[in-house]
Amino acid sequence: MHIKEVAKQLNTTPRSIRFYEEKGLISPVKASENEYRLFTEKDVMRLSTILALREIGVPVNAIREILENQDMSMRQYLDVQRSALFEKWIEMKDMIETIDRMLDTDKENITENIYALSQHLKAMKNIRKGWKDKWNFDKQAADYDQNIKMHGYRFNVHQDYENALAKATETIQLERGDSCLDIGIGTGNLGSRFLKEDVHVIGVDQSEEMLKRCGEKHPDIELRKGHFLALPLLDNQVEGAISSYALHHIRDEEKLLALAEMNRVVKANGQVCIVDLMFLNDQHRERVLNAFHEAGNSEAVDAINDEFYADRSALVDWFEMHNYHVETYSFNNILSMVYAVKR
Ligand SMILES: C[S@@+](CC[C@H](N)C(=O)[O-])C[C@H]1O[C@@H](n2cnc3c(N)ncnc32)[C@H](O)[C@@H]1O
Repeated sequence: MHIKEVAKQLNTTPRSIRFYEEKGLISPVKASENEYRLFTEKDVMRLSTILALREIGVPVNAIREILENQDMSMRQYLDVQRSALFEKWIEMKDMIETIDRMLDTDKENITENIYALSQHLKAMKNIRKGWKDKWNFDKQAADYDQNIKMHGYRFNVHQDYENALAKATETIQLERGDSCLDIGIGTGNLGSRFLKEDVHVIGVDQSEEMLKRCGEKHPDIELRKGHFLALPLLDNQVEGAISSYALHHIRDEEKLLALAEMNRVVKANGQVCIVDLMFLNDQHRERVLNAFHEAGNSEAVDAINDEFYADRSALVDWFEMHNYHVETYSFNNILSMVYAVKR
């Protein structure tokens, strides 16, 4: 096929096709007699992929990587791109909401108020961008299920793990056909419990390797790459949002944005259930840490200080302020459940 025919078939222009050729994404052979480009069926297919990826915002360099990298499937790349677009979309939403608040501000103090709102927005942007996986969950994925069964030397974070997952499963009320989002799904130990009730389970995780492992164990779970701070779902999509042993990997200020994200994706009357490492409040945290310290249990103190155990009372306050009915349950000194129903 000649360039004009290809352009017509793919609803693009010869100029665009030449651009992708210049960037090295396609290389049609040239006829020896007149140097006209000749496109094979395969070239046209490749070009249609390039155009589709450009249309959903994938940069040219990333397209080159996708086309050259045999290890990652197209579905995985699409998933990564969706996650990146959700991050942008949520940033745009924050900006639009800030403009709305700026417009609502009274005329007298408009300059100060607009500045204060812009600084709040800046802080939110920094929080959303600041998270790093300092635990390297990709590396943990292969052995995760085995490791949770092992007890630490003098401190076992997974004490009551099975009880906590069972309690969350019996607490959250979901029906056949409902959708349930498991955030920080890891290898799927909580989310998979809902499959037998014919609930549609969507698992989100920031770690590609955890998602891969989860997919191997539970092919019926829909997996999406994503983050607590930019959930890869549109608004009001799920009846339930659950999370186990994941929230303590984000800081307190990030947790509040994460709760707002859960609230965004959960439908009216929806439920949120979090089981995680947390203290009842700041005083409780101090008491527990002091007790470990006095007992000379530095393993426990270091493990706790390496992560961000929540203040349960702050989570409860947030949900109540946002019109949720909240119930809590303690499994042990460091492990609790927060169950919240959207009114
Ligand atoms: C300790 S594992 C828990 C896995 C599983 N929920 C369970 O109960 O066994 C923590 C998981 O949370 C994920 N995670 C940590 N921080 C996250 C974040 N900010 N956004 C999304 N996932 C996160 C990790 O990649 C990991 O898979």
